[in-house]
Amino acid sequence: MDLSDFMEDGRPITYEKAYNYFARDPAQKWAAYVAGTILVLITELGIRFEDSISILVSSGVPEGKGVSSSAAIEVENHIVGAPCGVMDQMASACGEANKLLAMVCQPAEVLGLVDIPPTIRFWGIDSGIRHSVGSSDYKSVRVGAFMGRKIIKSSASQINGLNPDDADADGRNLLETEASLDYLCNLSAHRYEASYATRLPESLSGRDFVEKYLDHDDSVTTIDKECNYAVRAPTRHPIYENFRVKAFKALLSAAVSNYQLSALGELMYQCHYSYSACGLGSNGTDRLVNLVQEMQHSKSSESEGGTLFGAKITGGGSGGTICVIGRNCLRSNEQLIEIQQRYKAATGFLPYVFEGSSPGAAKFGHLQIRFRPSLTE
Ligand SMILES: *[C@@H]1O[C@H](CO)[C@@H](O)[C@H](O)[C@H]1NC(C)=O
Ligand SMILES: *[C@@H]1O[C@H](CO)[C@@H](O)[C@H](O)[C@H]1NC(C)=O
Repeated sequence: MDLSDFMEDGRPITYEKAYNYFARDPAQKWAAYVAGTILVLITELGIRFEDSISILVSSGVPEGKGVSSSAAIEVENHIVGAPCGVMDQMASACGEANKLLAMVCQPAEVLGLVDIPPTIRFWGIDSGIRHSVGSSDYKSVRVGAFMGRKIIKSSASQINGLNPDDADADGRNLLETEASLDYLCNLSAHRYEASYATRLPESLSGRDFVEKYLDHDDSVTTIDKECNYAVRAPTRHPIYENFRVKAFKALLSAAVSNYQLSALGELMYQCHYSYSACGLGSNGTDRLVNLVQEMQHSKSSESEGGTLFGAKITGGGSGGTICVIGRNCLRSNEQLIEIQQRYKAATGFLPYVFEGSSPGAAKFGHLQIRFRPSLTE
């Protein structure tokens, strides 16, 4: 492309124009991830590019498998236009090889690196399903979660208003805090069960929601009145997921034991079913997770002991990759090969297994490549 395509009357074009520019040709839409960063540098930092630029993209991150191959090349969100959070971007920018990264997305705070004990190993298995037909789109699940938050806040004020003379000051304080809840994951699972779970509808039409609650207070999505939104599952997921993530982190730094691995694995299974219940699963990822369970509990591996302990869908969902946790030993690799074979026998597709990680952008720093014409003289 011409760099001048980004300029209009000496000024950089808007991000919206750039989005449309790259969206013109579906076969070249991916270029927004690479070239879009140049417009961001021009717009945000006033950098002027006088000459041409050649960009080489070389990546070891499996492409299009839901493991952040796009966040691996860019961490800005203006031009590509996906209503995603910052998790993948923060991991790509701040992560380190062979470590997990703890963060709070309110909206973006890095808590630090978490070591993976040498006895534990993680693998990815690609289901081969790109976007499962019939699954919900990410956006409507997000709308459902924001509706749920609004219903919880409004229920909290309502319950509080019912007992104005209640002398129970602690109970009133609790409800007042919850009436101004900012993030679903700031509500603990026991508070959710105690006061709100039964007040949330399974699903709700956009029209009914707007009539009763006016707005879901999300600046990046709009409610379609004709659409029916799942509410309970998308609301429940972040509440329980926050508990699971914290428990996972605590367990990783606990003493090594069989219980440690089976509890970590159980948390991953629970996450899988909770995410899939939002409508973001797929039959391929479910099949793979079932195969992990077959290996974990198989009679023939009883003598040696199953060494895989859990699995969950990763990324945006509706297909893509599952993450598997297991003991770091040869037996685990054998069981993964068996899973590949069984999946192929059932579906005709040999799933790709991969593992490992690399330093994030901050840790990697940069590499300067100088053009030295004198070498060829
Ligand atoms: C949510 O809870 C966390 C942990 O208690 C706290 O650090 C954070 O400030 C809370 N955020 C909001 C917006 O209340
Ligand atoms: C998923 O379902 C589709 C449609 O029913 C079927 O063609 C496909 O083989 C299934 N895939 C797996 C992995 O089970």
